[in-house]
Amino acid sequence: MIKAQHLTKRYGNLLAVDDLSFSVEAGKVTGFLGPNGSGKSTTMRMIMALDAPSSGTVTVGGHAFESLRFPLHEVGALLDATAAHPGRSARDHLNWLADSNRIPRARVSEVLGIVGLSEAAHRRAGVLSLGMGQRLGIAAALLGDPAVLILDEPINGLDPEGILWVRHLLRSLADEGRTVLVSSHLMAEMALTADHLIIIARGRLLSSGSVTDFIEQSGGHHTRVVTPDVEALRVLLRDKGATVFVDSAQELRVEGLESREVGIVAATAGLTLYELSTERASLEDAFIELTHGHADYRGAAEPLTASAT
Ligand SMILES: Nc1ncnc2c1ncn2[C@@H]1O[C@H](COP(=O)(O)OP(=O)(O)OP(=O)(O)O)[C@@H](O)[C@H]1O
Ligand SMILES: [Mg+2]
Repeated sequence: MIKAQHLTKRYGNLLAVDDLSFSVEAGKVTGFLGPNGSGKSTTMRMIMALDAPSSGTVTVGGHAFESLRFPLHEVGALLDATAAHPGRSARDHLNWLADSNRIPRARVSEVLGIVGLSEAAHRRAGVLSLGMGQRLGIAAALLGDPAVLILDEPINGLDPEGILWVRHLLRSLADEGRTVLVSSHLMAEMALTADHLIIIARGRLLSSGSVTDFIEQSGGHHTRVVTPDVEALRVLLRDKGATVFVDSAQELRVEGLESREVGIVAATAGLTLYELSTERASLEDAFIELTHGHADYRGAAEPLTASAT
């Protein structure tokens, strides 16, 4: 369990983290989301005592990180995948971490195997590809078999198989009762991986709760129907109180009636349906709706075109 209370970080005039309070529970994967520059990495660094809060507190399992005697046994973190010394081999990097935390070296071979780097263990950290570097960072986080894991954008640079592997890894770590806090900008992946979300913008908490509640509260859902009898069905559904949009010659979008009820209305009237489905808003839709206007850095709405001369 991680608990932040009124956590605040100032860099000069900049409020990077602003009075942030949240808790990250054990047994769940908690996604830590927010636009670029919203303070996610800064918060994670404060959890690991790599940055001191300007005010407020954060504890891991009820203790401040500095008070942990063998921290790698308690908290594993991937904060900066390039943190390994470039001249040191992957194995030596992990050996050095293991020695400094009284972790047996056999565990190094074990985690190299878990992350799929056994073959590359002799290669210098500085020449590993982006994704291999991420895997080495995850290996370091897992080294002490910790109860709490903090991973800052762990799937950056991973290939599709690697992303799937991280999804299953995080899931199984949470199922073992561990606390897993993971940041990412890949919303589709977060929707599949996380149970719980903490969403921040400009250092402040915007939302915290389950992924399903967040999506449901934001965009809700609608029923999509494909039918050759668009007009007849539209009238019947409207009479039932639904709001109906005609999306194309054979397609209706229905709000306010569940697909089950739409199916019954159609069957009762003897109308043919080719498709009937419930479409839920995506996490990406919900995230953009929530954070719109809160981002510090946003691209131009229109692609830039060369001005006419
Ligand atoms: N050491 C530092 N000195 C000054 N400003 C900093 C420092 N570290 C972070 N910041 C600033 O604090 C703000 C939050 O940065 P942070 O890296 O925590 O954001 P983030 O949410 O992790 O963003 P991203 O999604 O881009 O990784 C940014 O404006 C950043 O420029
Ligand atoms: Mg960051």
